[in-house]
This record gives sequence, C-alpha cells and structure tokens, in this order.
Amino acid sequence: MQNELVIVIDFGGQYNQLVARRVRENNVYCEIYSYKIDIEKIKELNPKGIILTGGPNSCYEEGAPSYSKELFELGIPVLGLCYGAQLMMHTLGGKVEKAPVREYGKTATFVNNGVELFDGVEDETTVWMSHFDYISKMADGFEEIAHTADCPVAAAQDETRKLYAIQFHPEVLHTVRGKQILSNFVYKICGCAGDWRMDSFAESKIKEIREKVGDGKVLLALSGGVDSSVAAVLLAKAVGKQLTCVFVDHGLLRKNEGDEVEQIFGPSGDYDLNFVRVNAADRYYEKLAGVDEPEKKRKIIGEEFIRVFEEEAKKIGKVDFLVQGTIYPDVVESGLGGESAVIKSHHNVGGLPDYVDFKEIIEPLRDLFKDEVRKVGLELGLPEYLVFRQPFPGPGLGIRIIGEVNAEKVRLVQDADYIYREEVGKALDKYAEEHDGEAAPWKPDQYFAALTNMRSVGVMGDERTYDYAVALRAVQTIDFMTAESAQIPWEVLQTVMNRIINEVKGVNRVMYDLTSKPPGTIEFE
Ligand code: XMP
Repeated sequence: MQNELVIVIDFGGQYNQLVARRVRENNVYCEIYSYKIDIEKIKELNPKGIILTGGPNSCYEEGAPSYSKELFELGIPVLGLCYGAQLMMHTLGGKVEKAPVREYGKTATFVNNGVELFDGVEDETTVWMSHFDYISKMADGFEEIAHTADCPVAAAQDETRKLYAIQFHPEVLHTVRGKQILSNFVYKICGCAGDWRMDSFAESKIKEIREKVGDGKVLLALSGGVDSSVAAVLLAKAVGKQLTCVFVDHGLLRKNEGDEVEQIFGPSGDYDLNFVRVNAADRYYEKLAGVDEPEKKRKIIGEEFIRVFEEEAKKIGKVDFLVQGTIYPDVVESGLGGESAVIKSHHNVGGLPDYVDFKEIIEPLRDLFKDEVRKVGLELGLPEYLVFRQPFPGPGLGIRIIGEVNAEKVRLVQDADYIYREEVGKALDKYAEEHDGEAAPWKPDQYFAALTNMRSVGVMGDERTYDYAVALRAVQTIDFMTAESAQIPWEVLQTVMNRIINEVKGVNRVMYDLTSKPPGTIEFE
C-alpha cells in the first residue's frame, strides 16, 4: 500500500498529532517525525509536502530545536506553523524577536486576496494565536500575506520556492478556516489527490494480512474495546478460522458487555473465527478478596489476565502471529515517530508477548488515529455502540469500586453505571435531535458510575437504610491528560439519581464528582 504522504516535523508542539489528524481528514496520509529526522530519510520518504509544527522554544536561542537549511531546498512545499514559521524565517535569513505584544487566543486576522493558501477564506477571519515571539523581518523572497492588529506578519509566502509560514494554528478548531487552509496546502500547493480512505485501507489491509499470514495460526487477545475489536474483524476477514480470539471475561466488565462481545464474535456472530470466552470472574474475585489498595488491585488484575491468557494460549499450542491493537498515537508517544524500523510492542496488558510462544507481531492499526479506527470499524460492519464505545480501563470495574471488590459490589456498580449511561445517552440524542444534529456543549468524553466505599443512613418507604453511595463521573477532555467535569444538566442527573435509588437495591445515595484533572484523575483508583 503506497499512499501519497505529507510529513509533520515535530518541534515539541502540543498540537503535533492534531496537525496530522487534520491532514488525514483531508484524505491525505500523514506521519509525524521528530525534528531530529535525517534529511536523507526525508528524501527517501519523498513526501508531497512538509509541515513544521509549533513548539515551546524561541528559535533564536542556543540549543533550540532547528533544522538545516537544506530542508527548504528540496523543492518540496513546506508549511511552517507558529514556531515552524519562525524557524523557517530565522533559518532563511529573516528575524524573529520577542513580540512587543503577546498574542493569545482568538484573533481577528486580515488575509490578502488572491493567495492560494487562503483560497475560500474571507478577508477578515478569526484564527487561534499563541506566541511570545514574532517575525519582525521576513527572509528574502517572502511577501506578507496576512496580518493582525499586533502581528505584522501573521503569514508569509515565497511562492517560487513554495514556502509558507503562518504564525497561527490552522489545526485548532478556533481557527475558523483552518481546515480550508490545510486543504489548500495539501491539494493546491502540494498537489495531492487525496488517496487516503478508510474503505480502501480496510480492503488493502486485509489483502496484506492474508499474504503475510499464509496458512499460519494467529492469536488475538480480545478485550471488547474498539481497537482490539476492529483488529479482530480485520483478521477474521483476512484469515478466518486461522484466527483464535481469546476473550477473558474477568467479571469486571460493564453490564452485559461479555455477552455483547460474544454475540458479535462468538459462534452465532457474523465472523467465521475461533472464539474462546473464558469466564474467569470467580478466579478474579477470589484473588481480589480482602484487597483494597488500588495499586495492588491493578497488579492482581493484570497478572491474572496474563495467567488466564497463557493457559488458553497453551491449549492452542504454538502460534505464528500475535495480533496487537497498537494505534498511531501509541507509536508517536513511544518516541518512535516512524524513525525506527524496530517494532516495539505495545499492549494494554503488561508483558503479554513474553508469555506466549509466537514468531511475529501483527499490528494492523498501527498507522491509524482513533477516529480512523472507528471509521474502519464502521466500514467493516461493527455495530455503532461498539465502535463509539468510551475508553474503558483494562482493570475495568476493579478500579471503579473503591476498596475491596466482590461480586455484589460489581453488580451494584454495573447496574448504576448502566442507568447512568442510558439516561445520558438519551439526553444527548434528544439534544442532537432538537439542534439539527449538533452535539450538546456538555457532551462528556467519558462518563461512568463508581461505587464509593461509603455507606450511609437513608430512609426509604418509612424504613431506615444503611447502603452504599454511588459517585457519578463525567469529564470533558481533549487528551485525557487534563480534564474538566462536564456540566450534565441537573434534570438529567436527577432522573439518574431517582432511577438508581429505585432500581439498584443496595444503593441509597448518589453523588456527582466535580473534580477536575489535575488534581483528580479520571478514574477513582
Ligand atoms: P486517569 O484515571 O489516569 O485516566 O485520569 C486517564 C484515562 O485512561 C484510562 N485508564 C486506563 N486505561 N488501562 C487502560 O487501558 C488502565 O489501567 C487505565 N487506567 C486509566 C481512563 O479510563 C481514562 O480514559
């Protein structure tokens, strides 16, 4: 599979992955490389375009990340964003200095007419600025193509050399015409045709896997999450019965989740593969009895997973390939950034490959961002509820039950969580229906119920109760590193509270967690 390629050279900008995602949304394949990438490697990759990201440094300071002048002499169009724009000017003989006025946030920008990069952009447009330094003098050959009240060179171009420098961030949604600008760059300036599509990805991946696997045996640890499910379908379509999926139900899954996974991948599902469901709940509860320390719980759950998986793998015998659901952000974050050909194995379950006798790892989703994995899942006919599933931690409900885990507590948190997700889901659908399909501004990126270890006194039907309190969590986040609690409407919360108290015997109090991250984490343990 040889797609046309645009590369992003990363100078430490917080939006590096976002830039690549935006390019890919334009149906152009894009990879991220560290600024340490060798020029020879770039020549070998032969990209149609190069984008330089922002970064926290000042390009004129000693030791700041930079790139040799040669980069701008390859004849390949280069688009510098923020730091990337400043670096381009600095390297080519312009001047970058501390700006008299720091620009931050949405900023009115005036763009020049007739500039290809700004085709379809109004003369006055809103962009997202975030910079201390500014371009005080352009390098020879450049002309200014946009400015703001405080920034004389908000964008510049050298059309002959196809070099473009923009001070703002087109990748951020606050830049109203950001998508258009990036599209202009990849299509009009780099001349891309847009051959990166998820339907053809699935098709050619299946073919590629078939060729690689031959008549070998393949093993996959299926968690029921998006990545492993999509990987399973790709493999199933490619090699059918040569694939065995082992699904460990550790008794810490969400309500009905085990059965849902079995329905899709088991014998009554659409795929002709070997599906092994291991019902290991009792084993887990036994191991977890009396343990309340979070790290200890996580360790026990992780280790037990490996043990169960290993037992099943032994029954299957020697396999040739082990499938992992690694996705592109894992590759970027591991620092490989495509610079190395060495395959580093990622897994949600620590140490898996060490215990299994296999020859090679297959990572069919290694090039994809999460939204692309979802698109492939839909292409392959996976149900929407599975494809758009929220992130769910490997240790599952084990870390959403504060303190000791047992079967009864699992039931309480499963039932409460089910009600919560159902009601929030309904409210989100209703909002979208009433607002032309628009998502509610309070739409959480992750929401779930947890069982606190607190029991308190209540009164129900004239009787005293002494039951558990459930905590509801909902967060909005971009990268899950920081998060704010989502403002779920009061009436939705009240419905959830009423239903939980009435329907979940053993719970008599419902609380809403307002804590942001930091100082809190998203999960409770
Ligand atoms: P925290 O609680 O650290 O969670 O704020 C951030 C995101 O990571 C998920 N999470 C996990 N995912 N294994 C996983 O695969 C884990 O052990 C784990 N712990 C937390 C969490 O659900 C949230 O999306």
